[in-house]
Amino acid sequence: MTVTIVGSQLGDEGKGGVVDLFGDAADVVARYQGGDNAGHTVVEGGTEYKLSLVPSGAVRDKVGVLGNGCVVNPATLFEEIDDLRDRGLAPDVRVAERAHVILPYHRVLDGIEEEAKSDSDMKVGTTGRGIGPTYEDKVGRRGLRIADLLDPEGLREKLEYVVAQKRALAEDVFGVDVDGPDADEEIGSAFDVDAIHEEYSEYGRRLREEDMTVNAGAFLADRIERGEEVMFEGAQGTSIDIDHGNYPYVTSSNPTAGYAATGTGVGPTTVGRGEVVGIVKAYLSRVGSGPLPTELKGDDESEELAEYIREEGGEYGTVTGRPRRVGWLDIPMLRHAARANGFTGLAINHIDVLAGLDEVKVGHSYDLDGEEVFTLPATTEQWADCEPNLRRFDGWSDVDWAAVAEEGYDAVPENARAYLEYVSDELDTDIYAVGVGPGREETVVLEDPFE
Ligand code: IMP
Ligand code: MG
Repeated sequence: MTVTIVGSQLGDEGKGGVVDLFGDAADVVARYQGGDNAGHTVVEGGTEYKLSLVPSGAVRDKVGVLGNGCVVNPATLFEEIDDLRDRGLAPDVRVAERAHVILPYHRVLDGIEEEAKSDSDMKVGTTGRGIGPTYEDKVGRRGLRIADLLDPEGLREKLEYVVAQKRALAEDVFGVDVDGPDADEEIGSAFDVDAIHEEYSEYGRRLREEDMTVNAGAFLADRIERGEEVMFEGAQGTSIDIDHGNYPYVTSSNPTAGYAATGTGVGPTTVGRGEVVGIVKAYLSRVGSGPLPTELKGDDESEELAEYIREEGGEYGTVTGRPRRVGWLDIPMLRHAARANGFTGLAINHIDVLAGLDEVKVGHSYDLDGEEVFTLPATTEQWADCEPNLRRFDGWSDVDWAAVAEEGYDAVPENARAYLEYVSDELDTDIYAVGVGPGREETVVLEDPFE
């Protein structure tokens, strides 16, 4: 069977830990979208692994697959693989031949466009990894796929067409000096066909040598047919989904569960026969621009509280190190996520981070133009006009969370249980796990989706 893990908020819900925990029963862990914009932290025996591209299951000897829906930066891929090998692991990672490749000009153009928008509120606050420009080229039918790296001659031909276009875009549209005497060397080489060809055909050679490329759909279907367990690991979150998130402050792919099929090549019925687990952080964080109705800001008390939660929860971007904005849990956002993904279960993380507060609030609904609304409006402009109707919960104290994890759900402080059960009721979805700390042992498991 399959289990799909999806972020229900804005990314950074602690998916890595859940994939790690439930992925124990999986034979294969596949990513279906995104690239090295993701940041997955896995803690194993006190050692922390930070991965951005390689599926987190690789830390535990699972076969990792990067599906056709992913965008792959081969430099990051091999860096992460080499790093895991240096640390004594033997990661087995397969990459879809259909996955698109992030090229140096994509990263440069990501930065150029953000810079061009920097004086307006159009700036997205991307991770700068070239994700958006790579998906643009995929849709524009001028992208390069992993399979292209295995064919040096074809690669050159495609590069000659596309690099000339990208260079003109940088120079003529954005007015960037690509290779004048004062030009930045890194920018220059990002638009140099020979330099790119040399570097990327070498990646192709290594992909072939290590036999890493697969037809992802066929590979996964075969595994499933043989009775193996497959986990689909979503990156980012529903509210930064290109279709279902708060456009334009979104990533350029679909983290939502439907893409687990499209982004790997198995049928939606295969995904739908399995479980879809929504990962929820007990509060909100956001790295990057865009509205956030329940954000803690605007007065000293709120900002102190945000600062406290940021420190307690380590709310700094895994990929970029940026401090994350912090807010109360937003229930309309979760209702939207539950519908768009069809969650069959929830994992609610980080309830330990909120321990010690006198009271904990949630945005239960919004007030929009004098009307009470219970889910996300379709446009970001409307969302920005939403005023949250807050509900208060009595806080819970800090306890020995490792002992709680050991003992089980009944050991969770009563007030925290009231909070969790409220969320479960509002979403009409059972809780499968409660995260009470960063390690995978620090999770209270109520139900294992693979069982
Ligand atoms: P991009 O994915 O780099 O294009 O960034 C687009 C938006 O998605 C920005 O607001 C990023 O901060 C956000 N984003 C991308 N990846 C992640 C992630 O893994 N966690 C949280 N936010 C992310
Ligand atoms: Mg992350």
